[in-house]
Amino acid sequence: MRRPFVCGNWKMNLLRESAVALASTLARAFPAPMPGAEVAVCPPFPYLTAVAEAIRGSAVALGAQDVSPERPGAFTGEVACEMLLDCGCTWVIIGHSERRHLLGETDATINRKLKTAVERGLRPIFCIGELLSERNAGLTEQVLDRQLGGGLAGMSKADVAALVIAYEPVWAIGTGVTATNEQAESAHVAVRGWLERQYDREIAENMRILYGGSVKPENAAGLIGMPNVDGALVGGASLKAEQFVPIVQAAL
Ligand code: PGA
Repeated sequence: MRRPFVCGNWKMNLLRESAVALASTLARAFPAPMPGAEVAVCPPFPYLTAVAEAIRGSAVALGAQDVSPERPGAFTGEVACEMLLDCGCTWVIIGHSERRHLLGETDATINRKLKTAVERGLRPIFCIGELLSERNAGLTEQVLDRQLGGGLAGMSKADVAALVIAYEPVWAIGTGVTATNEQAESAHVAVRGWLERQYDREIAENMRILYGGSVKPENAAGLIGMPNVDGALVGGASLKAEQFVPIVQAAL
């Protein structure tokens, strides 16, 4: 049984006071661990410790939005896995489409980040997803296969068991256009099929595959209700408790 997971990706939003206020509201909404669902928030780096404090003891876990593939050392501006763990992070988003497309992150870099994160004990939320032009050209599955193959290259079954995958069609991120339940389901089935071919049935069956891209309270239950959609990675709607809480409730 895959436990649904709803994760908020705050991106480059909020300041300390609003970040702590949002985190505190979520901690009050979900005060104790819930067997029915897992919930996490990923604030910007400077607010990780303040948010960690605000959610301490609650069901809400902490994640970061990116991490360096390097060990601590001379890498100006980078943040190491050790630092994220020290701040209280369990999770880290790796390979988000904004980093792939706006910041030029490659499958090879993502692969190094995934390997380092798993080795150091962080749990990656590994993001994949096709562009609109790729979907229109019928290339969705090929793109997902390439991103999965590149991102997970050289990773063992045990490594891969530590992560969750987020399918985020680029055309649905921040656009208000959500994939239909059926589009999400069919991409998730394709991802699970790839995992079974490359690893085995156990890995494929146990992998949580989140959907991301304009998830809102109105569409969350439909999407998460699909057999192969195991939760959501939520951007815009994670910045307001009155939107994020109902999405978690939909997963519950
Ligand atoms: P969105 O972002 O919910 O604002 O579309 C999702 C994401 O980028 O993770």
